[in-house]
Amino acid sequence: MPSVDISDLSRANIYKLLVGSVIPRPIAWVSCAAADGTRNIAPFSFFNVVSSFPPMLAVSIDKTKTSGQEQKDTLRYITETEEFVVNIATVDLLEPLVTSSLEFPSAVDEFEVTGLTPAPSVTVTPPRILEAPVSFECTLHTVVDLGESMLVIGKALHAHFHPDLLDENFSMRVERLRPVGRMPGPTFCTELNRVSRAPSPPKCGQDEFPVPPWATAETRPR
Ligand SMILES: Cc1cc2nc3c(=O)[nH]c(=O)nc-3n(C[C@H](O)[C@H](O)[C@H](O)COP(=O)(O)O)c2cc1C
Repeated sequence: MPSVDISDLSRANIYKLLVGSVIPRPIAWVSCAAADGTRNIAPFSFFNVVSSFPPMLAVSIDKTKTSGQEQKDTLRYITETEEFVVNIATVDLLEPLVTSSLEFPSAVDEFEVTGLTPAPSVTVTPPRILEAPVSFECTLHTVVDLGESMLVIGKALHAHFHPDLLDENFSMRVERLRPVGRMPGPTFCTELNRVSRAPSPPKCGQDEFPVPPWATAETRPR
C-alpha cells in the first residue's frame, strides 16, 4: 500500500487527501454579527463537537477569503464580539447553505440574499436561522492559531430544536433531522445510508478479522 511523507505533497493534494478521507463532515452553519449589527451567515465543514461537558463546538476558519487579502467575515465578527450561533442545516436547506458560502462583500447580509429568517437568540446578540431545526448559541471560549486558519472553540449556552426531533428519551430522531454532511468536492450526503453497529461482540483472535483487500504480505496480521 503506498504511503507518503505529507510534506512531499502539493498543497492541493494535501487538501484533497484530507477532505477525501475525513468524510462525511458535519457542517456548522454559522450566523454571527459585526459590532455595528451587520449580520452574516456562512457554512464551515471543518467542524465538530469537541466536548459535551462543558459543551464545546469547534470550527476551523481560514484567515482570509480566496482573494488572500480580506479576513473572512465570520472570523472577524466572532473575534470582535465573542458570540456566534451554530445552526444545523438539513438537506432541504442545501441551496441557501451553498448561497451563503459565496464570498459577498462584508456589508452584504446573507439573511437577505438567501431569504432565510433571522430569529432572535436568547443569550447572544447574533440571530439564529429560523429554518434550521437545531441551533446552538455560543460564546467564544478559545481561538487557536493554526497557521492559515483559526480554530474557533465556542461554549454552547443555549440550544433551540424543533419539538418533533427528540423522542421521549431526549434522543435525536436522525431520520427526521436529515442533517446534510460534506463529501469531497461539491458533493454532500445525508444520513440515509446509516448502518447499525455490529450486532455481536467483536472476536478477539486476529485470524478471525477479515483481511482488507489492500493489506500486503508485510502488513497482513500473522
Ligand atoms: C459546505 C461548505 C463548507 C465549508 N467549510 C469551510 C471551512 O471549514 N472553513 C473555511 O474557512 N471555509 C469553509 N467554506 C467556505 C466558506 O463558507 C466561505 O469562505 C464563506 O464565504 C465565508 O464567509 P464569510 O467571509 O462571511 O465568513 C465552506 C463552504 C461550503 C459550501
